[in-house]
Amino acid sequence: MAVDVRSLADVWTIGDVEIPGRVVLAPMAGVSVQAFRRQGRRHGAGLVCSEMVSACGLGHGNERTKDYLRIAPDERPLAVQIFGSDPVQMAEAARMCVAAGADIVDINMGCPVRKVTKTGAGATLTEGGAERGARIVEAVANAVEVPVTVKMRRGVDNGSRDFAVAGPRFEAAGARALTLHPRSAKQMYTGTADHALTAELVSLVSVPVIASGDIDSRERARVVLETTGCAAVMIGRGAQGNPWLLQSLREDRDVRPTNEQVVAEHIRFVRETVRELGEPRAVHFLRKFHAWYLRRGRFPRTLRQELSTLQTTAEVEAALLAAAPGAAPLIAQMEADIAALDALGDDAELDLPISLYGGG
Ligand SMILES: Cc1cc2nc3c(=O)[nH]c(=O)nc-3n(C[C@H](O)[C@H](O)[C@H](O)COP(=O)(O)O)c2cc1C
Repeated sequence: MAVDVRSLADVWTIGDVEIPGRVVLAPMAGVSVQAFRRQGRRHGAGLVCSEMVSACGLGHGNERTKDYLRIAPDERPLAVQIFGSDPVQMAEAARMCVAAGADIVDINMGCPVRKVTKTGAGATLTEGGAERGARIVEAVANAVEVPVTVKMRRGVDNGSRDFAVAGPRFEAAGARALTLHPRSAKQMYTGTADHALTAELVSLVSVPVIASGDIDSRERARVVLETTGCAAVMIGRGAQGNPWLLQSLREDRDVRPTNEQVVAEHIRFVRETVRELGEPRAVHFLRKFHAWYLRRGRFPRTLRQELSTLQTTAEVEAALLAAAPGAAPLIAQMEADIAALDALGDDAELDLPISLYGGG
């Protein structure tokens, strides 16, 4: 058998878009704000994705939804993900994403959340021979010049093999890459991602396949890359509060940040999020992130509890600095970087229109 000598640092392409690395940061509703995507890029992700954006919201000119399309040059290449069930509306939404600067338009066909599936969007689009899904891919691919991609699950029901029909249909309809999260929608996040199905999809299509699901270590990434023949690995939950995982995959070495580095990165994330969402929204939005940064047993449990009760980000920063005073010089170094973001012209505050948990 041929030895797979591909590296996660390789350059590869989706359509004509060059992707500088085989590590992709997953789209996550309620998580993938610009600060998160920028952090992913800084730590070595070759491609980052927006969370799912409602085509209906964009179509109705909903200002809050349109704020999702805030894109800055330092995040690119960036895929903007849209969800919806109407081909015409999806095509129009895709045009708006491209006008805003998206390099790739990704179509969500994996969201298992009822609020989305009951409208005929998300994971249901792979059902019934993927007829409706294929019509959406075709309409979107005809509407924009940039590559169109699809992210899907194995199907809706447990044991479903809809992906095997849907994948080739979406390729024929114009998809330039496919991401597979090989769980059923019914499974939500229970059980495990069966990457034997990813290998099968790779054998059925000729466009690149991105593997998503339970890739949370270098070892796992290597096994998935080698055993499935996928073009890239997508990292979701493993990168929450742990961007160093992306770096360790890309550089193929253990990257273990010091407590000072963790606190400095956490504070940078807090500041960039405040810049993006405004203080009141950021305080609420950041709570889950505090727990994510502080897990892995490095900090006292009481710190986590304390952060979850604080009402301002200034208090959060003070508590973090008290836990790792040595982070102060690292933060001072980052200040110029954060100030430089204003020059990118993306300083509008972002209002999050939806906060669905588990969009795919
Ligand atoms: C909080 C959360 C939000 C998510 N939102 C989206 C989304 O908006 N679009 C999407 O395609 N997938 C979404 N997903 C699915 C992830 O992109 C990914 O496929 C899944 O989490 C499996 O990868 P992981 O094990 O690395 O987390 C979400 C997952 C989580 C945990």
